[in-house]
Amino acid sequence: MKTQRIVAMLATVSLGLTLSVLSTQTANAATTKAIATDQRRANGGGDAIGSLRDEAEKAGLLIGSGSIKAMTTTSDGRPPNYLAEQEFRKVLAQQFNSLSPENDLKWQFIEPEEGVFDFKGIDRLVEFAKENHMQLKGHGLISSCCNPDYLTAKSDPVEFRAAMVEHFTKIMKRYKGKMDRYDVVTEALETFGGGLQHNDFYNVLGPDYIAEAFRIAHTADPKAKLFINDNLVEFLPGKRQELYDLVSGLVADGVPIDGVALQMHETLQGPPPGVITEMVNSYHALGLEVSIAELDVHTYDPVSQAKIYGDVVAEALAAGITEISVWGFTDKHLYTWLPGAKPCLFDENYNPKPAYFAVLDALRNYVQNRQQSAQAGRRSLQHR
Ligand code: G3I
Repeated sequence: MKTQRIVAMLATVSLGLTLSVLSTQTANAATTKAIATDQRRANGGGDAIGSLRDEAEKAGLLIGSGSIKAMTTTSDGRPPNYLAEQEFRKVLAQQFNSLSPENDLKWQFIEPEEGVFDFKGIDRLVEFAKENHMQLKGHGLISSCCNPDYLTAKSDPVEFRAAMVEHFTKIMKRYKGKMDRYDVVTEALETFGGGLQHNDFYNVLGPDYIAEAFRIAHTADPKAKLFINDNLVEFLPGKRQELYDLVSGLVADGVPIDGVALQMHETLQGPPPGVITEMVNSYHALGLEVSIAELDVHTYDPVSQAKIYGDVVAEALAAGITEISVWGFTDKHLYTWLPGAKPCLFDENYNPKPAYFAVLDALRNYVQNRQQSAQAGRRSLQHR
């Protein structure tokens, strides 16, 4: 019943957006191109569009792209290896200093048969990250999708837990020192709030599966930073509180958790101003980090899309977030649930969109403000 309600809501939103997109898509495509061209000229023309990565590195920030697919086999109908494309590799390495997989680390892809691991996709990401001096984050140890039948068939908690230990340990030991952060549990809460999702893990292990997952992960790689990843909390005050209650409970119980990864898949409107800051302050007070893990903006209007991207990044940086990742960077390989939406920073041909320049500006402003305050600090010390 609840699932039907959610599907109906999403369908309604999609339908409304689809109707509005049909009338505005053509105009928007032209507007996007014109604005991007103007901004490109203003930034030096030609290929001199700047680099998010260069700006981020001036301030020790991580700017990443998630949703990087490196699976090498496509015979099962899975989409191809993005890293096989030269332009994809070029833009990824020029613009970002961090990356994370789309589905390659999710259970059914990395351990398709019990005890049989397919590391090819993640190995390729490791190699790419090394070649290009990038950090690699693990995403999908526990996700709500892609759990194989051999796992979900286990109803005995002891057997289920043993499978988790084997799975986490094989992966995390192999990538020790190569993958420094993980989203350990993704989407633990119901999409619109209202308690924990009764997913494959909850159904066998109960609510403690979350604490168990963090403990198993910490034992497998004590140096890796471990995150809980969830969505929509920036819009839903009730779910925001539930996530806080869940996380503060884990901290109180001594569970080895390092931070909260906010997905931040935005649609027609960005989050209410101040909400990111409020969340960052509350988690920092618990001694945790906050990152933005999957930022994208599913709207049809490039101008409002750019504003939402820019505002989110500016507020996040001002609030003290030091790691921001988008969920894919090119509309050529976009993932959206809204038909026709183009959520990424670059278009299908790898041209930067207005959203790209908005993010670049937010990073530049942040870096400049920091440099100015550091200079002012030094001056005031000299005058003492
Ligand atoms: O590989 C199977 C294939 O064998 C099968 O024939 C086909 C039939 O549907 O499915 C294929 O698996 C699909 C998988 O992607 C690999 O392509 C799943 O159905 C499909 O549901 C899955 O979608 C992924 C989705 O997570 C699952 O929840 C998306 O690619 C991925 O981008 C998306 O990423 C999530 C993050 O993990 C968590 N946050 C939200 C984000 C989406 O915005």
